[in-house]
Amino acid sequence: MQMRLLARLALATLVVAAPLSLALQSQAAQAADPVTVLTSDFEDGTVQSWGGRSAETLANSTTVAHGGTHSLAVTGRTAAWQGPALSVLSTFAKGTAYTISVWVRMADTSDSARLSVERRTSGTASYDTVVGNTAVTSGGWVNLVGHYTLAYDVDFLSVYVETASTTGSLYIDDVTATYVPAQPIQTDIPSVKDVVTEFPVGAAITGAEILNEHGQLLTKHFGSVTPGNALKWDATEPTENTFTYTQADPLIAYAKSNGLAIRGHTFVWHNQTPSWVFLDANGAAMTATAENKALLLSRLENHIRNVAAHYGDTIGTWDVVNEVIDESQSDGMRRSTWYTITGLDYIRTAFRVAREVLPNATLCINDYNTNVAAKRDALYNLVSQLLNEGVPIDCVGHQMHINVSWPAVSDVEASIQKFATLGVEQQVTEMDVSIYTSSSESYTTPPAERLLAQAYVYRDMFALFREYADDITSVTLWGLADDNTWLDTYPVARKDAPLLFDTVLQAKSAYWGVVDPTKISTTTSSSPSASSSPSASSSSSSSSSPSASASTSASPGTSACSVAYRVTGSWTGGFQGDVKITNTGTAAINGWTLAWTFTGGQTVTQLWNGTVSQSGSAVTVTNASYNGTVAAGGSTSIGFLGSWAGTNPVPTAFTVNGTACAVA
Ligand code: XIL
Repeated sequence: MQMRLLARLALATLVVAAPLSLALQSQAAQAADPVTVLTSDFEDGTVQSWGGRSAETLANSTTVAHGGTHSLAVTGRTAAWQGPALSVLSTFAKGTAYTISVWVRMADTSDSARLSVERRTSGTASYDTVVGNTAVTSGGWVNLVGHYTLAYDVDFLSVYVETASTTGSLYIDDVTATYVPAQPIQTDIPSVKDVVTEFPVGAAITGAEILNEHGQLLTKHFGSVTPGNALKWDATEPTENTFTYTQADPLIAYAKSNGLAIRGHTFVWHNQTPSWVFLDANGAAMTATAENKALLLSRLENHIRNVAAHYGDTIGTWDVVNEVIDESQSDGMRRSTWYTITGLDYIRTAFRVAREVLPNATLCINDYNTNVAAKRDALYNLVSQLLNEGVPIDCVGHQMHINVSWPAVSDVEASIQKFATLGVEQQVTEMDVSIYTSSSESYTTPPAERLLAQAYVYRDMFALFREYADDITSVTLWGLADDNTWLDTYPVARKDAPLLFDTVLQAKSAYWGVVDPTKISTTTSSSPSASSSPSASSSSSSSSSPSASASTSASPGTSACSVAYRVTGSWTGGFQGDVKITNTGTAAINGWTLAWTFTGGQTVTQLWNGTVSQSGSAVTVTNASYNGTVAAGGSTSIGFLGSWAGTNPVPTAFTVNGTACAVA
């Protein structure tokens, strides 16, 4: 233990001493110029091969234009899914990562628009979201930009725009699709799996990751894979008792033939579960009755029996249940339909059935933010109770969706130590390190110092995992390379770069953080982040990409207080925040009232270490009985849960006892 503490201390010191202002080495290879495969600017006065998805009307228009004088007008929509579509069957090649960009504006209403691809194989249609719902108005053009890799053999392929809820007329303009030619992977660098030998290191994969250069990168560096979506309920049992493995089977076969271990993800989750699962015998939403409980548990049992048996021992580890904890509930349990209809019995049933079918598998309970004390404790209490009951839980999965400045290594270590006392295996199941620290930041190119900070996070976290190799039996990254990461659309649409390899599959400093931290380079100079501009994802005044950070409006040094506001976690509709007040004056603060104004319509739903009141967008927090005194130079923090919709901009001004504070 002494050794561990010393090692930790040394790492902590290194992090503080790391010269973050030094810019990062340039990427190992310069990306080639993008190749444009599709341009629709409508300047020739035609609809340029675009058609409606149904009976809506498409016409060239000069009423508004993004570039030039023409655009494409879409009128007469009678359903939100209707919109302009273009076949890209002969344009897109399987396995190539395309960047698709389209400018959208509503004619006279407001809605959210999204960009998708419809693909069909032998008449069966699938819909892939390229850019999720993004607010659009009639006041200006909004750019939807996303990435798409076709991973299947198809006989129909179409790019289209639709809206979230209304049927208002809309315009699109300046559509492009580009790709950066694939680069050969680097064969002269160490394989991650040869350097980190304490446990298998894995990557989450979709169909795209097993093709061409991606497949080469995957098998060079990783010893394990997790299908990122292909084994979820909506993929494997979309309608009751009809099981389909068309997404997962090719991935599993590839893994098997390349000798990769496989993590199954996941039998039970509250997301990506078809709605039929939660309908009662009459087709209505289930209410909490004994009959519905029996029905839901029998569906659960049938699902696990089938999917587990289909793969048998080929899949060595399963995330049996996913994200069941909500530490804000008094009993720590997420109020999913699973829980409201069955209580804890869905978890008991899931593990019992999984064990019956898979006596040799490692069965995990998986969750995010396990480094947060309250969440960790709630999960610990649940696992400990269930183990006492004899529920066959073999393993706790730490998702580890983290970012360049959160969490502290010590919090992750505390979590590993706590679960070690239960005698279960622990696996890091979905690690990625976002370059963003709040939902309001957006960069088109990752700033060098964020990539450097990321390399240190990977270095420190992998050092920790390897130190605890007695407890940790697998570490999986949630993706292979930055060209395909779920964080490009979550929690908001923007380009993220959370993995070890860049968008053209070359090793990043993050890779060196894992493989050989002495090679995290700080030598080659490029501009530090201050000069890298946040991406303008909208040219309208109601921008969906607010200015990057609160610190821009700070006037440090002049106030007697400074305030640091951080979004520490974010999910659809909700987020967690932390606000730290520092007394920068010379006298103690005795009793404080902190105030800020939300600019994105957010609401504080719960707050700790203070008392909150909110009137409209104005939030006021007064101290709790135990933290009213803040010594000169001292600080105190509050934490809260909030709700948001659309965007979640960081407040840019704060007062303490009526005095404006610097923003840290
Ligand atoms: C994500 C996938 O990567 C996305 O493609 C999908 O749209 C949403 O789900 N926690 C989990 C994973 O347990 O299943 C999630 O995967 C990421 C968060």
